[in-house]
Amino acid sequence: MFTLDSRLKTDFLGSVLKTPLLLPAGVMGISASSLLYAVQSGAGIVTTKSLTLQPRKGHDGPVISPVEGGFINAMGLCNPGIEFGIKEISEFKIKSFVPVIASVFATEPEGFVKLTEFINDSEADFIELNLSCPNVSAEYGVPLSSSPVIVEEVVRAVTDISKIPVIAKLSPNVPDIKLLALAAEKGGASALCLINTLGPGMEIDINIGRPVLKNIFGGMSGPCVKPIAVKLVYEASSVVKIPIIGLGGIMTGADAVEMLMAGASIIGIGTGIYYRGMDIYRKVNNELNEFLMKKDFKHIDEIKRINIDG
Ligand SMILES: Cc1cc2nc3c(=O)[nH]c(=O)nc-3n(C[C@H](O)[C@H](O)[C@H](O)COP(=O)(O)O)c2cc1C
Repeated sequence: MFTLDSRLKTDFLGSVLKTPLLLPAGVMGISASSLLYAVQSGAGIVTTKSLTLQPRKGHDGPVISPVEGGFINAMGLCNPGIEFGIKEISEFKIKSFVPVIASVFATEPEGFVKLTEFINDSEADFIELNLSCPNVSAEYGVPLSSSPVIVEEVVRAVTDISKIPVIAKLSPNVPDIKLLALAAEKGGASALCLINTLGPGMEIDINIGRPVLKNIFGGMSGPCVKPIAVKLVYEASSVVKIPIIGLGGIMTGADAVEMLMAGASIIGIGTGIYYRGMDIYRKVNNELNEFLMKKDFKHIDEIKRINIDG
């Protein structure tokens, strides 16, 4: 079984995490067994696939393709629906004490409110509002989190009724992340999660002269987006007081250190799984711990925004 150093043990919104590494939404689906697999591999907190009120088939394939330095995907939010999702969360909770974040997606505030009513009757520890999917037609290319007014409205509608802390997942595809971060905080969010996939982008198969993805466009993730993710976490953390889940291209302990220095409180690893396997959580925990030991830091909190502001 995985043993952890006290340097990595951290508090996130009142829950004690054995490690600051998080499984982000979507990368491993919704099943209890896949969430459990992430925990057994060293993740300290896990997120479900974004759940919608009704089951969604998602886009026709191909839905994901490797590109230089990452992946491009247009899954189309395929998921079995909220009722199925909360049963999987219960199943997970029978086997694990690790906190679980229920990610939800709707295209308007009323939908988010209905989803929150379901989550209130579930065993989820946190609810994450996916305000930032670049791959579904209702908001294609224009995520809800493009507008500070809409972000504040949706977050407030949910926090008004939610029994658990609310996390707002923001889009990187905006001119000024600070405005969106502040809007989410003003609406009552307890934490932010950034970034969702970047773009969307496009890849063409030159042998057949057609786009690789059936949906033509798709969001980008993996190492190629990391400098943008670091910059956006840095900017957001300079204006809000609430904690930030930083993710986007994290592959190594060094990447995790960089994200903490940018201002993240905990760190997500998604696409990295495709490169280093599920064991990436254990590897990054060890690499992060080694860095702290080598530099004589007693806890990850000591490197948060260290020396960044000059
Ligand atoms: C295949 C795939 C599916 C995803 N599905 C979701 C989703 O359902 N909801 C969501 O908020 N983000 C989703 N994401 C975005 C990730 O949670 C994460 O924000 C993004 O990929 C950046 O992190 P990474 O570079 O570590 O993967 C998905 C990403 C991938 C690659």
